[in-house]
Amino acid sequence: MKTALVTGGAYRIGQQICRTLHEASFNIIIHYNSSSLGAQKLADELNSIRPDSAKTIQAELSSTDDIEQLCQSVRSLDVLINNASVFYPTPIDNLKLSDYQKIMNTNLMGPLFLSSTLSKKLAQNNGSIVNIIDIHGDRPLRNHTIYNISKAAIAMMTKTLAKELAPNIRVNGVSPGSIIWPENEAELNQSQKQSMLNKIALNKQGSANDIADTVLFLTQSNYITGQIIAVDGGRNLNQ
Ligand SMILES: NC(=O)c1ccc[n+]([C@@H]2O[C@H](COP(=O)([O-])OP(=O)(O)OC[C@H]3O[C@@H](n4cnc5c(N)ncnc54)[C@H](OP(=O)(O)O)[C@@H]3O)[C@@H](O)[C@H]2O)c1
Repeated sequence: MKTALVTGGAYRIGQQICRTLHEASFNIIIHYNSSSLGAQKLADELNSIRPDSAKTIQAELSSTDDIEQLCQSVRSLDVLINNASVFYPTPIDNLKLSDYQKIMNTNLMGPLFLSSTLSKKLAQNNGSIVNIIDIHGDRPLRNHTIYNISKAAIAMMTKTLAKELAPNIRVNGVSPGSIIWPENEAELNQSQKQSMLNKIALNKQGSANDIADTVLFLTQSNYITGQIIAVDGGRNLNQ
């Protein structure tokens, strides 16, 4: 039985990735940071479908100590999905070092050190890594300087690691367009949402399933490495 570790797996896109990989017979390690209840509920649900097929693990991914502990607790691994991230505006005229550290550490440093530390275990199983990026790593989203930079960096990390970790580990990425509206400090009003939808060729948001299905495809594609697939309804066709 193959094992997948999904970071930020308790809710939203990460939760669907856990469900889709589980349905494809993976055992799932659901990583969470603050969402212990959501992660446990999902683990209980997956374990009720297949006993001992899911467990949870807590880690603050901007902490190298937590990353180290998380990696030590993983015995064998076939697939690492770097999904966890933070997203909120950081206007250029008021950049704060604390925001830079929070966003870059969570969105880049965490995935990089997880990938590096787990690479021996992944190599033993000819495993793969899938990084969840964002189309805004390529085309900047206004007002989100640090987030855009963090996602551009993880896109380059995807290609770099594909080279460094070959031939035993494949590394690919999925770049979502608009899938689930942001919450809390990044929430959008109705007219902002409509203006985003107007730019999508397929005229609608995607679903978490669209992302999870592409992740599954990449985990199963034995001759694909160093690739990033945009799942964005054709958003990149419009200026
Ligand atoms: N939603 C979209 O439409 C969209 C569009 C483009 C790209 N994406 C990308 O797709 C991925 C999933 O998106 P999403 O909207 O589902 O994500 P999300 O809900 O914003 O975040 C996913 C999880 O990341 C975890 N996380 C945040 N900071 C962390 C930290 N310091 N340490 C450990 N975990 C941390 C949180 O876990 P806890 O809840 O346990 O704290 C959170 O539940 C992200 O990489 C995002 O950038 C999403």
